[in-house]
Amino acid sequence: MGYVGPKPAAEVLLGGLKRLEYRGYDSAGIALADDGSIFLQRKAGALRVLEEALAKSPPPVSHMGIGHTRWATHGGVSDHNAHPHTDCSGEIAIVHNGIIENADDLRLELLSQGHILRSETDSELVAHMLEHGKGDLRARLSDVARRCEGAYALLVMDVHQPDRLVAVRRTSPIAIGATESEAFVASGAIALAPWLGECIYLDDGEIADIRPGKIEVFRLEDLQPIAKTLHPIEGDGAMPDAGEHGTFYRKELMEQPIAWRRVMAGRLDELGQVDLSQDGIEENLLRAVQRVVFLAMGSSLHACQMAVERLADVVALPAQAELASEFRDTRNFLEPGTLAVAVSQSGETIDTLAALRHARQLGANVLALVNAPGSTIARESDYVFDLRAGFEISVASTKAFTTQVIALELLTAAFAQARQRPLPPADLQALRAVPTVAEDFLSALRLPKDLIDACAAAPGVIFLGRGQDLSLAREGSLKLKELSYVWSEAFAAGELKHGPLALVDQRVPVIVCATDPRHAVKLRSSLAEATARGAYGVAIGSELGATLQLSLPLKERIGAYLLGALPLQLLAVDVAEARGCPIDQPRNLAKSVTVE
Ligand code: M6R
Repeated sequence: MGYVGPKPAAEVLLGGLKRLEYRGYDSAGIALADDGSIFLQRKAGALRVLEEALAKSPPPVSHMGIGHTRWATHGGVSDHNAHPHTDCSGEIAIVHNGIIENADDLRLELLSQGHILRSETDSELVAHMLEHGKGDLRARLSDVARRCEGAYALLVMDVHQPDRLVAVRRTSPIAIGATESEAFVASGAIALAPWLGECIYLDDGEIADIRPGKIEVFRLEDLQPIAKTLHPIEGDGAMPDAGEHGTFYRKELMEQPIAWRRVMAGRLDELGQVDLSQDGIEENLLRAVQRVVFLAMGSSLHACQMAVERLADVVALPAQAELASEFRDTRNFLEPGTLAVAVSQSGETIDTLAALRHARQLGANVLALVNAPGSTIARESDYVFDLRAGFEISVASTKAFTTQVIALELLTAAFAQARQRPLPPADLQALRAVPTVAEDFLSALRLPKDLIDACAAAPGVIFLGRGQDLSLAREGSLKLKELSYVWSEAFAAGELKHGPLALVDQRVPVIVCATDPRHAVKLRSSLAEATARGAYGVAIGSELGATLQLSLPLKERIGAYLLGALPLQLLAVDVAEARGCPIDQPRNLAKSVTVE
């Protein structure tokens, strides 16, 4: 976060950092220009710890500063590794997101030149490199950026260049905005919302000179000026509030029916016709597609795995869901007619972005399904499907995941329609009905204490599924891990006897996802194998003779899948609370994973 203008900079920086807090971090700091020198305060831990330190030693009234929340990569979590970092003279300060991959070489070079390095971070090196070179700050930063390999968003201030910040981007996001009298920079537009209605986004290989009322952007390569487009900033600037729900995770879990209605609005009509032309997805595009490759990570990948099942089953369209982090290294061709679909809540996940760029190089058209239409993934795609789930603050995804499932079902239905083999009307009616059914289902949904206690005390929890339910099982397992830190794993039910059954005893709950009734008979046998060994068995969907049967009020596959996600999401938070875990920001995790 950066600020130049008449307001007290410390307040603006802390306000912006608070709005980015939900993304996850482990330390925080600010640097303020103070009459020819730099005031620096950095603290390991929550922003609150930084604020307490600032209350004890109040910062100067300054009108230029930068701030940062760090998620440790190089160097442990400590005050001295927290950003901002300064050069030897303490006159230049920098903050950095990303990883500088040639840091070891740069460190040796700087040490041999006599620089005093005070942290173990790759980021500090940039401050020292800026001491060298000729020209003004922009020229120096562009020289330094060209020498850094890896990913970075860098924001720099120099006390000798008042009223000016300089930022450069390679891969990690930067949003910038200005009014006549002030200028703001942040790693996400959400941090700018209290002060600005629109902003520009730096693209890769761009450097920005930022002054009140004036933002100039240049190509890093040759320093040629670039005209940028202003994008609206979503939200009214009010701090999001979990209200009566206590945590954003519970709030977002409960507000899923609203998000589901929003994603369908204008795309699915009462007659079951799907129209994605508002997203630029026309029938001729859908007809030309021969194969779909989904690229995603985490929960977003699970939504894609469900879509692969659906496309194969109802459209007979070959599709695969690829772990985006593997795609770039393992694929060197794509069949002609391939549509790459990048699915990402944040639109900034670096693995997904890198995979998207690779798919493009291999000749694919790219469709982005994102919850942030101004994000990098959206800007680099040919078509953008906005999920409209609303801000998801909790690191563990709920409404973004289920909204992705619906968006992908709409895409499946559009493919089916374009190929003259529309989905059964009952499926689409169930989709339209699911928000209302879910409201009633959610308001009555409670999990028994003995299940929560069993999971909270378990050495591990096993999730099973077949077909579409394997992706649901994976999602249930991921949620439980993220929130409660209970070790869990999802298996295809058929795998159980081939090894995992050795893990099962009376301490290991086994949760079977059974939202597709076609697999009920086989799933019943898998569950019986586990309960015969003393496991606490849970069935979600079809009746399987489990210790706990959670039936669902819709039987159609997509409707049941969405409803089946809800008890899994609830289980994760109930177990996490029973174990005393923080809910919205699980340890070690970040909301927007912008480093590889
Ligand atoms: O923003 P994205 O959807 O690209 O994020 C992908 C994953 O990092 C994300 O789904 C992660 O697994 C969530 N924390 C899951 O709850």
